[in-house]
Amino acid sequence: MALQLSILVGTQTGVAQLVAQEIELRLDGEGLGIRTLLMDDIDASVFASGGVFLVCTSTYGQGDVPDGAKPFYEDLMKKRPDLSAVRYGVIGLGDKGTHGKTFCFAAKKFDSILTELGAIRIGEPLLNDSGTDLPEDEAAEWIGGWIELCKKEVGAEA
Ligand SMILES: Cc1cc2nc3c(=O)[nH]c(=O)nc-3n(C[C@H](O)[C@H](O)[C@H](O)COP(=O)(O)O)c2cc1C
Repeated sequence: MALQLSILVGTQTGVAQLVAQEIELRLDGEGLGIRTLLMDDIDASVFASGGVFLVCTSTYGQGDVPDGAKPFYEDLMKKRPDLSAVRYGVIGLGDKGTHGKTFCFAAKKFDSILTELGAIRIGEPLLNDSGTDLPEDEAAEWIGGWIELCKKEVGAEA
């Protein structure tokens, strides 16, 4: 069966959503099933059936998850579901120049909680520094390699 991918977007001003759109465009025609969900609209039950997920989130405040993503993050912390059937990747958006001490902390927070709950990360996180690289361009370049890793990982389990 074709790989089914859910992109979970945490955003304050829309850039992470733009990154998700760019990824969908880049993967168009590759025969994957892709859905993009705003973290504002989901809770921990999004992981109920397991599968492959890509967390794509910016960081706000002092290393916080975006406002709209907070209820989702807190739901995971509170319910602590067993995520051993979840495979995931991480794209973090941040700004090293202005927020060096909390660079991409929201992405790192999601990475930590998902691993803690038993999910297995595929590949290394992509942590974009908007001061040096356009996030949508860097993500579009990165996604091909990550999808190949997913196919190997998920294929090996089937
Ligand atoms: C008020 C404010 C606080 C921010 N705090 C952080 C931070 O703590 N760490 C970080 O890496 N980036 C931080 N950023 C940078 C954003 O994460 C970055 O601009 C990102 O591309 C915004 O994406 P979004 O539109 O999807 O929210 C901050 C930006 C603003 C405006």
